[in-house]
Amino acid sequence: MSVIRFGVSLEQDLLEALDDYSQENQLANRSQAIRHLINNNIVTKKWKCNNIVAGSITLVFDHHKRDILKNLTEIQHAHHNIILSSQHFHLDHDNCMEIIAVKGKAAELTKLSDQLIAVKGIHHGKLTMSRAD
Ligand code: NI
Repeated sequence: MSVIRFGVSLEQDLLEALDDYSQENQLANRSQAIRHLINNNIVTKKWKCNNIVAGSITLVFDHHKRDILKNLTEIQHAHHNIILSSQHFHLDHDNCMEIIAVKGKAAELTKLSDQLIAVKGIHHGKLTMSRAD
């Protein structure tokens, strides 16, 4: 893909924020920082739409909580078409972490993630995403 150069005018504080962002993310220069910001923004927008994305849903929970494993399994079976795989880790005596790899329409993945995270007993849940088109 060819690279097009263009001039950008920014206020001093925004420029400082861009340089901070660049440093925090170990980006080589301002062009890379801008590229990084645009990509992240576009991915987030895609997440709300019907584009195909891939990602993972991470859940942390106490497996002693009544019906939690049964509820999580039922929701996942109902969405087998967008779930690639899942992995279960026994973190300690009480806590488990489940990482579910997903691929599908952004809106459907968001809905599935919201449904799983809302299960009673989930301590923490997070959906991450990548472009898959
Ligand atoms: Ni476990």
